[in-house]
Amino acid sequence: MADGIFKDGLLAGKVAFVTGGSSGINLGIAERFVKAGAKVVINGRNVEKLEGAVKGLQAHGTAMGLPADVRDYASVEKAFQTAHEAYGEIDILVCGAAGNFPAPALAMSSNGFKAVMDIDVLGTFNACRAGFEHLRKPGATVINISAPQAYLPTAMQAHVCAAKAGVDMLTRVLAIEWGSAGVRINSISPGPIDDTEGMRRLAPTPESREKVIGTLPLQRMGSKSDISNLALFLASDAASYITGSIMVCDGGWSLMGSGVLMQALGG
Ligand code: COA
Repeated sequence: MADGIFKDGLLAGKVAFVTGGSSGINLGIAERFVKAGAKVVINGRNVEKLEGAVKGLQAHGTAMGLPADVRDYASVEKAFQTAHEAYGEIDILVCGAAGNFPAPALAMSSNGFKAVMDIDVLGTFNACRAGFEHLRKPGATVINISAPQAYLPTAMQAHVCAAKAGVDMLTRVLAIEWGSAGVRINSISPGPIDDTEGMRRLAPTPESREKVIGTLPLQRMGSKSDISNLALFLASDAASYITGSIMVCDGGWSLMGSGVLMQALGG
């Protein structure tokens, strides 16, 4: 879908590092980058899942997997060092590792809130902070994966709302701080994307899925390639003047306001 608008080998010679790359949107981005000629490192917590994902990627090109928990700075730092030794300087960093479970704030323990804040906000900071040392400067680009919850207050999502707002603010601050080094940094804010862990958690039944679709102006779930198209554009030179942007790719979902979002999610 829409592959034809990008020239073959668009990312030839580039190296990409994708956190949370074993599944979902992030694996879709990793696959797209491999097919576009990049050498891709994916990172994840679950070694078995990581190995399976890497095998799939290697069918299309060059890829490796490095286990690390983005909440643990030392393990993230080590993963970047290993990636650098294997493939050289990193051109594209995708910070995609995220956590979510739907729960009202009063059914959420302090540790549950912290788990999501730590994976999303601290994890994004850790990957950016540790990754910066290994980015090819100037010319490198960072893509943080956010969500509409960053700007739409959503019941059952207190942790994600706070966390993704933090991620988007990190995007903007780092765009200011790193612009002079020639590093661009943007967020992608995906709407409901089919066949992902996030949607399986938020809309687990066929009925809830249909409910979500009914609220979407474009009347369909997004696909992983909708997001990887945007990631490929942002990673390419065609986006060379875009930094500090929150790029919304959600079928118009966020236009409908958080009331609709909550209704669809059963909040
Ligand atoms: N409702 C309420 N609390 C929940 C919960 C739920 N559905 N799921 C987990 N928690 C709580 C746990 O009870 C625990 O709190 P406690 O120690 O006070 O009991 C806390 O969250 C941490 O859970 P744990 O399973 O130990 O953390 P983890 O680091 O292994 O997992 C999560 C992190 C909780 C975010 C988990 O949902 C996850 O790993 N998600 C990754 C995949 C994902 O969500 N992908 C979609 C991204 S959009």
